[in-house]
Amino acid sequence: MEILSKTLEVGIKGKAYPIHLGSSLGLKVRSVIQKILDSGRKVCVVTDENLKVSQASFINQCFDGCSICVLPAGETTKSMHYLGKTFDFFCDQGLGRNSVLIAFGGGVIGDLTGYAAASYLRGIDFYQVPTTLLSMVDSSVGGKTGINISGGKNLVGAFYQPEAVFIDTDLLSTLPPREFSAGMAEVVKTGLLGNKELFDKLVLMGKLSDKHPDLVSVITACCVLKSTVVSEDEREMAHSGGRALLNLGHTFGHAIENVTGYGAYLHGEAVAIGLVMAKNLSIRCGYSLEGLSESLVNLLQLYQLPLSLKEPLPLESLMKSMFSDKKTRNGKLRFVLLRNIGDAITKEGIDEKMIEEIWRAGGAK
Ligand code: GLY
Repeated sequence: MEILSKTLEVGIKGKAYPIHLGSSLGLKVRSVIQKILDSGRKVCVVTDENLKVSQASFINQCFDGCSICVLPAGETTKSMHYLGKTFDFFCDQGLGRNSVLIAFGGGVIGDLTGYAAASYLRGIDFYQVPTTLLSMVDSSVGGKTGINISGGKNLVGAFYQPEAVFIDTDLLSTLPPREFSAGMAEVVKTGLLGNKELFDKLVLMGKLSDKHPDLVSVITACCVLKSTVVSEDEREMAHSGGRALLNLGHTFGHAIENVTGYGAYLHGEAVAIGLVMAKNLSIRCGYSLEGLSESLVNLLQLYQLPLSLKEPLPLESLMKSMFSDKKTRNGKLRFVLLRNIGDAITKEGIDEKMIEEIWRAGGAK
């Protein structure tokens, strides 16, 4: 079968790695795994129960000879409990320091497996094979790994880069429509924060789907922007701007996920609400954003993404959760604002009353 792919590079200093992107990448994945197995190293694939069934043929084609650790699907798997389960599995399989992990799944599997790779035996190699749109355009690239704890989302983790990322758009054929839409929230976010051309294209192109001819170019645009940003500020340490810009809508979104117990909203759905709130906050802070409100709302509605809370949530809990998010600096909330489409900045010191108003307008009580 013809392999249709391109390769981008994530140019992190001392740890550059490729993103192979396209369709029909199974043979490419298999050949990399075969080489690792032939060299005598063990390979363990971490995946979830849904993918074990829906992607059985990809798993059979690519992961023969590997051990397979199957976890429940869903955000609640990104926990200390299941991290412990994966470590137990690795020990039972006799994985050693030269063994290799493959994260075969969406953001939950990618983040958890990446963190397991960062910490098992103080660090073993891993590869990302994302299976959701959200993980293809965001979470599989850039080495943010981690789990959620009761205090907040992604509060325990490590910056730990994979050896390579394989983005095979064929894997999206079994992705439930709700999950595809959730991934679109991160695509819209990417356009909003740093690629106006992408945003305009999304507005004009109609509904993207796994079969759309522009799918690969849209994913490529997201990966290019993400690679550029993380190559310059891998650990989100820039005094202003930098990697933190990728958190547009996430300070609000993470609070929604945390307060609702990581089940009621998919990550991308919470981000969609967060994007509307970040846009509203930007306008309240004085940025005019001509025409953005309408195009953003239309775009999110096209993908049936929520624009405000589905049910009212307590303002106090949302505010408290925001303050325990990693994105605070010296106890101050830090937001990503839009100055224009494709032009974002970080901003601290916004009046809390203003944030509360934005929450109330978004459905908090
Ligand atoms: N998802 C935001 C980041 O990777 O920095």
